[in-house]
Amino acid sequence: MNAKMEAARKAVEYVEDGMVLGLGSGSTINILLEKLGDRVQEGLNIKGVSSSVKTEKLARGHGIEVTDFSQVSRLDLAIDGADEVDPNFQLLKGGGGSLLREKIVDVAADQFIVVADESKQVEQLGAFPLPVEVVPFGWEQTQARIEAFGCEAVLRDSGGKPFVTDNGLYILDCHFGKIDRPEWLHNQLKSLVGVVETGLFLDMTDLVIVGRDDGADVLD
Ligand code: 5RP
Repeated sequence: MNAKMEAARKAVEYVEDGMVLGLGSGSTINILLEKLGDRVQEGLNIKGVSSSVKTEKLARGHGIEVTDFSQVSRLDLAIDGADEVDPNFQLLKGGGGSLLREKIVDVAADQFIVVADESKQVEQLGAFPLPVEVVPFGWEQTQARIEAFGCEAVLRDSGGKPFVTDNGLYILDCHFGKIDRPEWLHNQLKSLVGVVETGLFLDMTDLVIVGRDDGADVLD
């Protein structure tokens, strides 16, 4: 947990007064929200667009003003976590189930910073099952089409029922083992009827903050 704390602490240094932020999701972001809340108490003036219902609740709880895309058209900075980060800053995300809103928020920002503990650094994406957000209707059909790309696509479960995202959609966790061509795979999956978004976040990241137990490294 300390590594996540160190990454979050470093990321807060990039937040400036007056910024409109994109707020990611996950346990590292939860720590970031706490730290941002402390700075808001000290007088920092920021607003955030949230990438999940949970983040929104937490942000408000920490005194951070939450806005949305009906009020702002561009974000100064988005900060988000990741499940895997490769040496080219390509990301695999969605372990927490918020990938679609996260991607909408993260691409709307002028700068995108990833916060991750060092366990998230990988040479190649794909050991972590790739989350793919799909329409519930006919998900079995979508599953079969995805599996034709050489993975097992497992419907995410929550207490014996399908896990439902903030968008009312399902998630298929796709066990590829390794992903040799992330861009090709993302494009192929996106072209399937029933697929709404994949957890491959490609060519988006400006900076990666890697937390360790005793500090954080900034990679750019
Ligand atoms: C949620 C995500 C998270 O950013 C990702 O799962 C990392 O989470 P954590 O900070 O808890 O390790 O993509 O959809």
